[in-house]
Amino acid sequence: MKEINKYIDSVFYNQDPILEEVLRSIKENGMRSISVSPSTGKLLSMLVSISGAKHVLEIGALGGYSGICLARGLGRDGKLTSLELVERYADLAHNNLAKAGFGDQVSYMVGPALESLEQLVGEEKQFDFFFIDADKENYESYLNYCVKLAQNGALIVCDNVLARGTVADDSAEPTKHTEFMKRFNQTVANHPQLESVLMPIGDGLTISRVRK
Ligand SMILES: C[S@@+](CC[C@H](N)C(=O)[O-])C[C@H]1O[C@@H](n2cnc3c(N)ncnc32)[C@H](O)[C@@H]1O
Repeated sequence: MKEINKYIDSVFYNQDPILEEVLRSIKENGMRSISVSPSTGKLLSMLVSISGAKHVLEIGALGGYSGICLARGLGRDGKLTSLELVERYADLAHNNLAKAGFGDQVSYMVGPALESLEQLVGEEKQFDFFFIDADKENYESYLNYCVKLAQNGALIVCDNVLARGTVADDSAEPTKHTEFMKRFNQTVANHPQLESVLMPIGDGLTISRVRK
């Protein structure tokens, strides 16, 4: 997986000073380098743009790398809502989105995502695109909330579903997320309201279309 992704990124990724600055800011702030891969980011921009989504919900902001990629697909009239546990991460992400020209299109909800999602359901909010990339233990709950908050035809994209390839390789040392992801992938694949596929880009993405 590592070699394939290195190859994909080397052929299809162009220099991107804005995103490279985001990665620098994450390091400078002592945060973990766990943003999506360059090709995953590019795919997010393309999926938002191709689907014509205008109301995007992100779960897990970190320093705003994926946020910028999602916002790039939106156009000037779209909005991104991003859920992040840690206030200073949300502040950095907001700062980075502002530098990239999207400061007025994004809003952050700080705190445990499950609480923010419950609030969004209470407010009867609806979204047409979701990106799940936070604590893996809650992926299944996040998925269920996203289905509740989805318009018919919305896309739900989830990152890290291959757990570094360990879900598909019984001889590999499992990560702490291997079993979660195996179960999660089964749930996504068999969900009655989702039509889904898994793409082995970055750490693996499921892409699901919601039928309501
Ligand atoms: C892998 S990083 C997100 C990377 C980001 N999507 C990107 O590619 O630029 C996961 C993020 O989820 C956040 N997170 C973890 N648990 C959370 C929770 N319960 N609620 C909200 N955010 C959470 C972490 O603080 C971290 O910023």
